[in-house]
Amino acid sequence: MNENVLEYSIQNSADTRQNKSFRERRCSRFGRGTLMKAELAIIGGTGFYNPGMAGNLEQLEVNTIYGSVTCQVGEHQGKNVVFLPRHGKEHNLPPHRINYRANIWALRELGVKCIISSTAVGSLRKEITPGMLVVLDQFIDFTKYRKHTFYDGTGGEVVHTDFTEPYCPQLRSCLCRILHQKGVPFLEKGTYICTEGPRYETPAEVKLFAAWGGDVVGMTNVPEVALAREAGLCYASLSLVTNYGSGLSSQPLNHQEVVEEMKAKINIIGDVFIKAFNSLTGVQDCRCAFKEDYKLGDKDN
Ligand code: HPA
Repeated sequence: MNENVLEYSIQNSADTRQNKSFRERRCSRFGRGTLMKAELAIIGGTGFYNPGMAGNLEQLEVNTIYGSVTCQVGEHQGKNVVFLPRHGKEHNLPPHRINYRANIWALRELGVKCIISSTAVGSLRKEITPGMLVVLDQFIDFTKYRKHTFYDGTGGEVVHTDFTEPYCPQLRSCLCRILHQKGVPFLEKGTYICTEGPRYETPAEVKLFAAWGGDVVGMTNVPEVALAREAGLCYASLSLVTNYGSGLSSQPLNHQEVVEEMKAKINIIGDVFIKAFNSLTGVQDCRCAFKEDYKLGDKDN
């Protein structure tokens, strides 16, 4: 593993457009004078701290208007892939302290078009058993205190983004296809309830969430998925059910059991992500990046 720390500063997107030369000094992998292109990103959740790609990974510091982000860049089959462990490399950022806006902004500025993320979740239903994988298709937002939008009204700009299909349908079907091919049991759909955390739920909350149509519960997918859409990026998430929600089993919940279950499945998840990236052609036939739907400035640089 190459631990070079490379500096990559972004002042703001207007500056980005005026001064493309800053791109020339950021990452040796891309060579002097070449525009950085890393179209694919993995956001790793609990227990996922290494993307499992062949080749050296270079550590990259990206300074955005929302804060700085540390990620890694590696090459896989001729494609540059950014890996961003959402809780930090040492898992020292709890869900409510993650700088979701900086993370998504940094990926966007690096040229990323497609993000696949992993999430550890608790099951809200007896029939969704620990060890199962779920390709999320809907979410319900129960977070409370997070910076959840790029459109915070600055400059009098009011934007309401469509969330009929919160997760990229193309990326989702790509994940489903690979999981089918691998013969791994999984659910093609699932509604994710996102809580504020960091505490786990009460049994009463689990009952309520299930009655409201939730399938799984976690603490990180919102606002990550929403910000990705606001930024015009394709985003899909593969959840691993690490435990039954509180009250569905006789055991109290603990973080270690979540980490252990993740460890047991991490190779499968990493392999699915890499295979998904291999099969992406670069031509996305979805609405995620539709120019009329987002107004976050110029994405062409
Ligand atoms: N609740 C919330 N978040 C989680 C859980 C859970 O039961 N398991 C893993 N992440």
